[in-house]
Amino acid sequence: MSDAIEAHLRETRRVSPPADFVQHARITDRSLHDEADADFTGFWHRRALEQISWYHEPTQSLDDSNAPFYRWFADGTLNLTYNCLDRHVDGGGGKKIAYTWIGEPGDERVITYAELLADVERAASALKAHGVGKGDRVAIYLGMVPELPIAMLACARIGAIHSVIFGGFAANALADRIQDATCRLVITGDGAWRRGSIIPLKDIVDEAVADCPSVEHVLVVKRTEQDVAWHDHDTWWHDAMAAAEPRCAPEVMNAEDVLFMLYTSGTTAKPKGIVHTSGGYLLGAMLSHQWIFDIQGNDVFWCTADCGWVTGHTYVVYGPLANHTTSIIYEGTPEHPTWERHWEIVHKHKVSIYYTAPTAIRALIKAGEAAVEKYDVSSLRLLGTVGEPINPEAWVWYHEHVGGGRCPIVDTWWQTETGSTVLSPLPGLSTTKPGSAIGPLPGMKPVIVDEQGNEVAIGGGGYLTLQRPWPSMLRTIWGDDQRYIDTYWSQYGPTVYFTGDGARTDADGDIWLLGRVDDVINVAGHRISTTEIESSLVGHPAVAEAAATGADDPIKGEMIAAFVILRDGNEPTEELRKDLSAHVAADIGKFARPGLLLFAPDLPKTRSGKIMRRLLKNIAEGKELGDATTLRDPSILLAIKEDADRQLGR
Ligand code: PRX
Repeated sequence: MSDAIEAHLRETRRVSPPADFVQHARITDRSLHDEADADFTGFWHRRALEQISWYHEPTQSLDDSNAPFYRWFADGTLNLTYNCLDRHVDGGGGKKIAYTWIGEPGDERVITYAELLADVERAASALKAHGVGKGDRVAIYLGMVPELPIAMLACARIGAIHSVIFGGFAANALADRIQDATCRLVITGDGAWRRGSIIPLKDIVDEAVADCPSVEHVLVVKRTEQDVAWHDHDTWWHDAMAAAEPRCAPEVMNAEDVLFMLYTSGTTAKPKGIVHTSGGYLLGAMLSHQWIFDIQGNDVFWCTADCGWVTGHTYVVYGPLANHTTSIIYEGTPEHPTWERHWEIVHKHKVSIYYTAPTAIRALIKAGEAAVEKYDVSSLRLLGTVGEPINPEAWVWYHEHVGGGRCPIVDTWWQTETGSTVLSPLPGLSTTKPGSAIGPLPGMKPVIVDEQGNEVAIGGGGYLTLQRPWPSMLRTIWGDDQRYIDTYWSQYGPTVYFTGDGARTDADGDIWLLGRVDDVINVAGHRISTTEIESSLVGHPAVAEAAATGADDPIKGEMIAAFVILRDGNEPTEELRKDLSAHVAADIGKFARPGLLLFAPDLPKTRSGKIMRRLLKNIAEGKELGDATTLRDPSILLAIKEDADRQLGR
């Protein structure tokens, strides 16, 4: 689609909330926004008392005495699993379905709230029996099986800190994360189904834990019947569950005790363990889930994200469960066994709210509307997107072909760091526009600033900052308070949170995200730093130097483009290209494999030696080179471009 048509769609598609939606929408006017703007700490405190079942109700709201190490509800005590499970079961809601889980091969498991509580209690007892206690770190490396949320909740029950690591990461990346958090126990599986084949999770864990002296036990969920090697520290999950005490009382946790850490990519090669605490995180997860999805008692909610990412934490586990919602979990990816799978599930399970990533929507478009038209998806009443900017063409297709023109679309902007959604349209209130996240949820204060930190006028663009602390914000980076300050609270002053994203407002003041402004690439909604790719590439014996950048990709949004300078004595062959790609996949994970790998005679650097990735991006995309005046040696750029064009046959 041409830029002009995209621009036209953006300008002309205004979708008002459907009239019948307003009748059951949770937020139909601005009063919550007004209440929060008048007194945001009081606003959050009142919500915390309303929403959360506390053992000891907090008397404090925000403590900003040691900013940016903010604390929320710091004298309150609670347990997340009590809020997600016990209180519903005790209140007579135990028979409600918590999860309908659908396996990739087609098997299904329906789990009620009472059953989920029973499993979580047993799993919590099993963790205790393996020496895990409050504050200990547990790594979870699984596919999307029911044991994944059960393991997360079992940790939360006893106050252990979970660190879920996406099942697509390779052994090195897994080992780095386990070591950084000094995890005592790892929960994995014999394998995970992915696109009809098996990811050998246990083999990968075996390789990783060989370098992780902190790991005392590995619990292994049987899922694929794959043969696995066995070590003294291994125990089958089902044996541990069978041997465990059936009951396990929830640990009384302080609101500021750590609930979980989740690694994400920053601008250096070392991933950051983003730390979230208990009370504030739960409040953000619950309220945002209610507000943006207009959750009602009979909804069937499907967030397609993997629990290896923050979206799965907040909108597969904590938000929906705390709100006593019925959710779908599908083990596989949307294209397996066919591109019809999602629509078949929506039809069969009468899904009412469907929340996915733009990259999935673009792939589903490619598969054609016949796949969705074959099924009755009229149960849908609301659609959502997350993870990357959505292009207007994909938005319009989603609205028309999946939403039948009647379902509002919530384009939710947030980050691992924010814990829950920050910007989103509100169904029933907002007029939506294809590609705009519209504006803040109640209590949030986004401000778009220029290079100097001054707010830009309506209609202008710049850097997205958040200028008011919020309960579900990250508290620090695991083991690295200084990096927390440097990364998020230094660019524009000590109380201004820098998101790393560019954004602009339109004439109505609605917000449009423009992608990352730092060295982070967003590939199919997965965050990867350019330096992570580069340090992996230079780890290969044939590579002298490497530079990675994002480049436009019609399905993934962005792909990784890598430029490699070879060491003397190596030839730029097709075989070496494949070898280098495979090297990155084996080092980080398949999702980090460069989409484009070019051999370069040199790299464009500024006089201070910084690689100009922006120029490399232009080369990868076949665009005009752009301003190269700050380069140490501008002629290099032409040489790289000529070489790249030759390799790409341009
Ligand atoms: O660049 C933004 C993009 O994803 C980044 C956060 O990635 P992660 O921490 O992995 O969390 C993803 C899921 C919450 C952001 O800095 N991003 C996320 N949502 C959107 C988005 N970009 C545009 N529009 C969105 N709705």
